[in-house]
This record gives sequence, C-alpha cells and structure tokens, in this order.
Amino acid sequence: MTFDRSIKIAPSILSADFANFGAEIQAIEAQGCDWVHVDVMDGHFVPNLTFGPPLCKAIRPHIKTVMDVHLMISPVDLFIEAFAEAGADIISVHPEAGAHTHRTLQAIRAAGARPGLAINPGTGLDSIAYLLDLVDIVCIMTVNPGFGGQKFIHSQIDKVRALRAMIGDRPIHIEIDGGVTPETAPLVVAAGADVLVAGSAVFKGGSVANPAPYGENIRAIRAAAEAARQADRAA
Ligand code: DX5
Ligand code: ZN
Repeated sequence: MTFDRSIKIAPSILSADFANFGAEIQAIEAQGCDWVHVDVMDGHFVPNLTFGPPLCKAIRPHIKTVMDVHLMISPVDLFIEAFAEAGADIISVHPEAGAHTHRTLQAIRAAGARPGLAINPGTGLDSIAYLLDLVDIVCIMTVNPGFGGQKFIHSQIDKVRALRAMIGDRPIHIEIDGGVTPETAPLVVAAGADVLVAGSAVFKGGSVANPAPYGENIRAIRAAAEAARQADRAA
C-alpha cells in the first residue's frame, strides 16, 4: 500500500450476502472498488453482532485489494493479534472503546497492520490530537456505528474539515463511514476526505448473479466525488 490522496471507494460487506462473502468480494472488486471494508461488531460497544477473526481469515484470499477492518468492539486489545494474523491490512479502533488507545495503536503496528482511528459522531477531535503520529488513517463516522443504511449526519462535515487541517502534511488517509451516497460524497470530499466507505449505496440493486449494478453504484459515487475535487481545484 502506497500513500496517496486519490479517491478510494471501500464497499462495506455489511451490506453483502452473508452466505456468499467470497463471491460478493470478487464481484465488487471486479466492478472496480479500491478497498474492501470489513465491519466487526461485538453486541456490546455497538448494538449489533457480526463476525470475528475466523471469518476475516476465510475471506482474506478473496481480497486482492486492501482489507480494511473496522473494529467496533470493546475491549479490543485482546483481539488485535488475531485480526492481524487473519490478514487485515488496516485495523481501525474507536478511542471511545477503551482507556488506552495509544497502547492499542502501537500494538496494531507491532502486529504488522496499519493502525487507524474511527471517531463517533459525538466525539471531538481533541481525543485524537496526541494519537495522530501513530496512525495511517482516521475514519470519521457519519452515522452512529452499528448498522448499515442509516442517514448521513451532516454536522460531521465540519469535523472532516478540521481534521484535514490538523493532519497537515502527514500521510494520513481521511475515511468517511456511514450514509455515503453520490449526494453526500461530494460534501465530505470537498472537506478533505479521500476514502469513502459505502455499504447500502454500493450493494443496492445488485447481486452475485447480477453484479453490474455494483459497478454502476461505485462509478456514481466516484464520479460525484471526483467532480467535487475538480471544483475544489478550479476554485
Ligand atoms: C456502520 C458501519 C458502516 C456501514 C456503512 O457501523 O461501520 O461501515 O456498513 O453502511 P452504509 O453505507 O449503508 O451507511
Ligand atoms: Zn465501518
């Protein structure tokens, strides 16, 4: 993985057919996605349960791009090694999920993965000011984590802009997670985002048997995001 700020579309497999992850991943990659976003939920930190390291390990051979693992679990330290061993390229954790995020981020790097921070809508950037030098990615949640298909929270756009300023020249991606569509993508890209997670907006209308809509959906989000970049450059 080399660093650049090009627009990257990362479909969340939370919206895929859970009985068919391997084929779903092959389909979204064939249809042009850049990363694959994997949402791990524990029924405790968030009010929903998904899957753990064995599932991540099972799907890993199907991912040719980047495996972007978003941990919504608490406590998290116990599981870092297992997710790294399962083949996660990126492991993002929530500072709200524990008292020792600094240590957790160091543990992710030591385990051979790229550390990331995911920030809930109600959390300010103060909590990450002293963690920025440890991370490769910061994910701004634009919904409260737990479920796909929720409405984008517009108040987070200012947070993206503030984060972009805080990051300065550091090689840190800004990822957006929740309610990303062709309508909302330009707003966050104009504010400084480069990685766009999208679950329902990518998987809607398609299936493994009929994957073309995945491609249309990915291209629609990308086109809207690129247009915001162009407008920014022209201004
Ligand atoms: C929410 C997850 C998201 C979610 C996004 O807790 O972290 O990745 O799947 O889904 P959409 O794009 O449908 O809001
Ligand atoms: Zn996520």
